[in-house]
Amino acid sequence: MKKTLVPDYIRNLKTYQAGKPIDEVAREKGLTRISKIASNENPLGPSPYAIKEMTQALWDLHRYPDMHAHKLKTALSELYKLKKENIILGNGSEGIMGYIARAFLAPGDEVLTSEHTFIGFYILARSAGAKLVKAPLTEDFRYNVKEIANRIHENTKVIYIANPNNPTGTYITKSEFDFLMKHVPDHVLVILDEAYFEFARERDDYPDSMDYRYDNVITLRTFSKAYGLSGVRVGYGFAHEDLISNLTKVKLPFEPNLIAQVGASGAINDHPHLERTVSKNEVEYKRLFDYLDKNGFSPIPSVTNFICIKTGSTEKSTWLFENLLNQGVIIRPLSSNEMPEFVRISIGTKEEMDHFYEAMDKIISEYNKI
Ligand SMILES: Cc1ncc(COP(=O)(O)O)c(C=O)c1O
Repeated sequence: MKKTLVPDYIRNLKTYQAGKPIDEVAREKGLTRISKIASNENPLGPSPYAIKEMTQALWDLHRYPDMHAHKLKTALSELYKLKKENIILGNGSEGIMGYIARAFLAPGDEVLTSEHTFIGFYILARSAGAKLVKAPLTEDFRYNVKEIANRIHENTKVIYIANPNNPTGTYITKSEFDFLMKHVPDHVLVILDEAYFEFARERDDYPDSMDYRYDNVITLRTFSKAYGLSGVRVGYGFAHEDLISNLTKVKLPFEPNLIAQVGASGAINDHPHLERTVSKNEVEYKRLFDYLDKNGFSPIPSVTNFICIKTGSTEKSTWLFENLLNQGVIIRPLSSNEMPEFVRISIGTKEEMDHFYEAMDKIISEYNKI
């Protein structure tokens, strides 16, 4: 048989597609007013505390970062009342998913998750040669814990749950989480991806994973969303120390980098910035939901900083994306999530959302004729 460098599971991978960058749209369209509401970022920007810390740290860039990230881990352990041995940091929470894939997944292992969830995870699981098993969502676009439980069997190695989910914005409740955990054997690792935790935690029936103690669950959170630090890449994971120590063995020692570590240490103490972020998001969420509802889009109720809507066809999604882009508004089509008949809109600042409404008002009657 002919030898090949690239295994089929790598050759068949599709490259991750991010939201269109602002500079690219400015260049391609020759526009100056651009509103990017495509990547669920914090529209208020980073915390001024984070900026101050990061600016000062520029003078130390000739030094390697602290590989034990003492300052940031101390801040996290104080905030969440945990030992440092229970914490791992990475280049974004996606970086930690990469460590999990490297440490625990081998070709042939099964990874169980849902359809229409975070594609970054699909790519990482597939890149380890794992077989992805996807349960369908419920009719109201939520993770279907019964369907997931039905698919657990002896080859299942990892279960991935994004709670809340991206791109639907929905969440599994406490009782659904309890139901699922009753069906998960101890040797199966459950990844609870809580990238949007800060937006969802006020819901009474949202299962905050810090209220549970399972040795086979790892919680992943991030500074990329509510903390406004997507650009420096820093995320964190909480789990049993045995799990963390094994993940640490495969972790690249100096991730996250120096600027990311100090930025996150600054951001974590800026409670007013976080509160402002969440409260402004609530105001603009409500406005966006009402606008979409009024215009017949049936938005999916979301507990995050984005809303997913059904256009009904690939053609309509593409048309909407392109016609908003022509006016400088960047939203996210969802064909790579295998939801081509949906698009996702992130919640921006008031000004960015006004731009979106103005742009929509200009094209809505034409859109309705497609
Ligand atoms: C559900 C979910 N998990 C993880 C991530 C990645 O976050 P990070 O920037 O921390 O790698 C995202 C980013 O969009 C996400 O939506």
